[in-house]
Amino acid sequence: MKQLNILTFAALMAAPATSLRADEGQWLPMLIDKNIAQMQQMGCRLEADDIYSLNHTSLKDAVVIFGGGCTGEMVSDSGLLLTNYHCGYDAIQYLSTVEHDYLTDGFWATGRADELPVPGLTVTFLISVRDVTDSVTMGLTPDMPERQAAQVRRRNIELIERRAVGSSHYTATVKPFFNRNQYLLFVNEVFTDVRLVGAPPSRIGKFGGDTDNWVWPRQTGDFSMFRVYAGADNRPAPYSAANRPYRPRKHLTISTRGVHEGDFTMVMGYPGTTNEYAPSHNVAMTTRDINPRMIELRTAKLDVMNRHQKQDPAIRIKYDAKNASTSNAWKKWQGENTGLAHFDAIGKKQAYEARLTQWIEADSARRARYGSILPAYAQIYPRYAQLHLADRYYGEMCYRGGIETMEVAAMVRPLIETTLDGRKPTRQHIDSVAAELELFYKDYDAALDREMSARVLECYLGGTPAQCRPATLTPDSAQAVALRITAGICADRARMMAALARWNRRTARRLAADPAMLLLDTLTAAARRHIDEYRQLADTLRTLDRLYMKAQMDFEPDRHFYPDANFTMRVAYGTVCGYTGCDGTRHDYFTTLDQIMEKNRTGNPDFDIPERLAELHRTRDYGSYAEDGQIRTCFVANNHTTGGNSGSPVLNADGHLVGLNFDRAWDGIMSDTMFDPAICRNITLDIRYLLFVVDRYAGAGYLLREMTFAR
Ligand code: ARG
Ligand code: GLU
Repeated sequence: MKQLNILTFAALMAAPATSLRADEGQWLPMLIDKNIAQMQQMGCRLEADDIYSLNHTSLKDAVVIFGGGCTGEMVSDSGLLLTNYHCGYDAIQYLSTVEHDYLTDGFWATGRADELPVPGLTVTFLISVRDVTDSVTMGLTPDMPERQAAQVRRRNIELIERRAVGSSHYTATVKPFFNRNQYLLFVNEVFTDVRLVGAPPSRIGKFGGDTDNWVWPRQTGDFSMFRVYAGADNRPAPYSAANRPYRPRKHLTISTRGVHEGDFTMVMGYPGTTNEYAPSHNVAMTTRDINPRMIELRTAKLDVMNRHQKQDPAIRIKYDAKNASTSNAWKKWQGENTGLAHFDAIGKKQAYEARLTQWIEADSARRARYGSILPAYAQIYPRYAQLHLADRYYGEMCYRGGIETMEVAAMVRPLIETTLDGRKPTRQHIDSVAAELELFYKDYDAALDREMSARVLECYLGGTPAQCRPATLTPDSAQAVALRITAGICADRARMMAALARWNRRTARRLAADPAMLLLDTLTAAARRHIDEYRQLADTLRTLDRLYMKAQMDFEPDRHFYPDANFTMRVAYGTVCGYTGCDGTRHDYFTTLDQIMEKNRTGNPDFDIPERLAELHRTRDYGSYAEDGQIRTCFVANNHTTGGNSGSPVLNADGHLVGLNFDRAWDGIMSDTMFDPAICRNITLDIRYLLFVVDRYAGAGYLLREMTFAR
């Protein structure tokens, strides 16, 4: 394998200077023919149309959006789907109760009839992609004000999407690429009957917990299994007991041969957001103004959640998912900040901007077109950063559970407004609010929320620029405010439900005066104070970003650019390889079940394992899933991935499934802003560990019988 590495290296060195850089990039599958030669040099044995083709089935037909923010893949001709445990987590938690605690015990359907429907869960297949830039920009003139241009584009996009759907059951979305220099139309098929088939206990699926999150070496069994159901015509249909397993156009073949240092791998999936072409000012804002404040706020939230969860098993279940999602970005921001500082991202960007400026200044036409971009960034960012920070605080408090009663207030607000306007809300409207609230209260604890709200308000009032926060609130009023809102109706399921049941003008008036409602109004008023200025600056920045992207592409005409991630399907490729961390530690490319046992002995509860796993290790009951007498759990490679790529199939040179992408390693998390193949690593669950857990641990080997294995 070493040899292959050197050969590849030599081949790349011999390539012309204009060739692509290896490894970096999240490429559009329908344009992968531009990369395929390089991929083949790196060992790939596929052709471009094995990956994406409009004329016959290809790998892209097996890769799906799972829910709203993850990737999944088809692994049988009966709609069996694999994704990460942490992607299926909400569903598993939703289906769990204290009596049926699937989080603790795992879940394995023994037959189709046992598979558990998950209301609201969707699986989205990609049908086709088309460039519609000309149609989107039709009617635009160069000097049209941004507001007006946005309107024209919006109208064009609506029309394009409507035409694309026609009378079919498909959905269509137009998305901007290269900061709106290009537009692509995506036609999708969305399935809504999706059922849980299997999940390991969280001590396997979440092994390492938050201690190991964003960290390598890692041994998490991060997978769960679902099944897509369709109507009798194999098309999407709402849940019905009569629905049948969906027969996909394509499902992946699984390889149990493993991967080794230097092997080619590629990841197909839905990376969410990256920011590779942003100016240094943007990186400075994120790392200096935003991340530290948001880290502080979430530290406070987590401190409260952790304490309450430890004291009460019911609260542990209620807040498990909230805790995991709060801590995930909290930790990521820290890794990102460390990495961007360590690699001097701002300095590197500034040096690039200096070169770019020189090039712009050397030509009068270029100066006219691009000369004002960087100075404008420098002028706008300091003010924008203040308003953006205030907006981020608002989001954390009101939408992301910082002050949980704000969500309740926001749900009830429209009912109150309708009623006090003298119109009568329909019973249906009231019932739908009630249903949403029931879901909310199922996972709510007022005592926890009281403490968390106080801490969050303190952070907000201490960290927001004075002119952006409510004059009536001071940091030392936080405790009292938190006490009041959590003593009100919004924090009390029984009183709220009673109010909804006999809804009238008086209830509306009483709820309008509820402390939580008043706080929401206060926070919203403060956020709205600068909304026009904020929007205007954001608009200006978007216009600058489009021009700046263009300038960069003009500056380096021979460079093969990939568009920033925008939750559309991409292909990333690279090689399996260990690395040397920033602290000088050398890391191997794979991890093992033996290491699970070692970590387990440390006594950290994040490394607890089910006794049955320890027993399998003791008896070495590994079946055919071992390599050199070991169960390999995970591996790393330098595929360029980001959030949204969770659950993505990791494929070998033949396009066979060798693992499930689920994370990145700490030293390289800055890859959303700056990718460095020497240090950036995506973390993949080895498919053999998944198969081992399903077969040997859970005794659910019957599920493997519908999969296809490479010989
Ligand atoms: N860091 C991974 C991803 O960004 C996994 C998150 C879930 N795991 C956890 N321990 N919270 O989203
Ligand atoms: N865990 C991430 C997700 O949920 C993927 C890790 C990353 O950000 O690369 O998508």
